[in-house]
Amino acid sequence: MHDKVHQAGVTERVALVTGANKGIGLEIARQLARAGVIVLLGARDRGRASAAVHALAQQGLTAQAVQLDLEDEASIAAAAASIAAEHGRLDILVNNAGIVDAEDGPPSAASIAAVRKIVNTNFVGTLAVTQAMLPLLRRSPAARIVNLSSSLGSLTLNGDPSSPYYSARLIGYNASKAALNMLTVQLAEELRDTPIVVTSVSPGYVKTDLTGHQGFLTAEDGARLPVQHALRGADAVSGRFVEASGDTPW
Ligand SMILES: NC(=O)c1ccc[n+]([C@@H]2O[C@H](COP(=O)([O-])OP(=O)(O)OC[C@H]3O[C@@H](n4cnc5c(N)ncnc54)[C@H](OP(=O)(O)O)[C@@H]3O)[C@@H](O)[C@H]2O)c1
Repeated sequence: MHDKVHQAGVTERVALVTGANKGIGLEIARQLARAGVIVLLGARDRGRASAAVHALAQQGLTAQAVQLDLEDEASIAAAAASIAAEHGRLDILVNNAGIVDAEDGPPSAASIAAVRKIVNTNFVGTLAVTQAMLPLLRRSPAARIVNLSSSLGSLTLNGDPSSPYYSARLIGYNASKAALNMLTVQLAEELRDTPIVVTSVSPGYVKTDLTGHQGFLTAEDGARLPVQHALRGADAVSGRFVEASGDTPW
């Protein structure tokens, strides 16, 4: 009874995008809605969620607001319960929400409080959301989990002086994304015998609030690869770390 079924009998996919009130997350929500997916627009602030839903509606796109704060386990549990009640399953989870902190920096100098906060949000919070949504994802015939990682989370590139990412020594942020990549690898292995595909995606350097609107790509461009992997069909390979040019080294 939960499934939204087209006349042709094809079931519409249901996607949750975290941190979808702005930036890359909002663009992912927009592109998934355009692709005909039922989009649950996650945001920690109800007002910001409603404003984003309204902005999509003005373009003729439908999304439903879901209050979800990665730092608040009660909000995560409530979001999972409401998705279960309304949709009965989840086909796509885009773990997009994430932070940087101006007090982050190299290992010798980064604020420990800032590092704790970044890792707690980007890694522990994402793990908590994923755990809570997993029972719903298991009810999908072919669920996709897309983790918004960064090439800054590549252990290999952090140790490669020829890499453009080498000089960005942000121990908190980079470690949070390396840990997120560990989630991708371990979860892909744990779910090996299921149809669920888990992917780490590095979107590129995108002009958003997170980068102070520095970057090479618009949020629309930055959303393309995560959306592509969220919608990937039977050829999807689990446990990969990808950027626009192909596989990224772990
Ligand atoms: N921009 C880039 O160049 C780039 C590159 C590589 C990876 N990424 C990753 O891409 C993702 C999106 O980044 P962005 O550039 O679009 O950043 P952004 O514009 O700053 O958006 C971040 C989103 O995450 C939300 N968020 C932060 N903490 C949260 C929490 N505790 N609970 C729920 N939501 C929370 C924010 O909500 P509020 O509005 O309430 O703060 C916002 O919706 C992040 O994971 C980032 O690390 C970005």
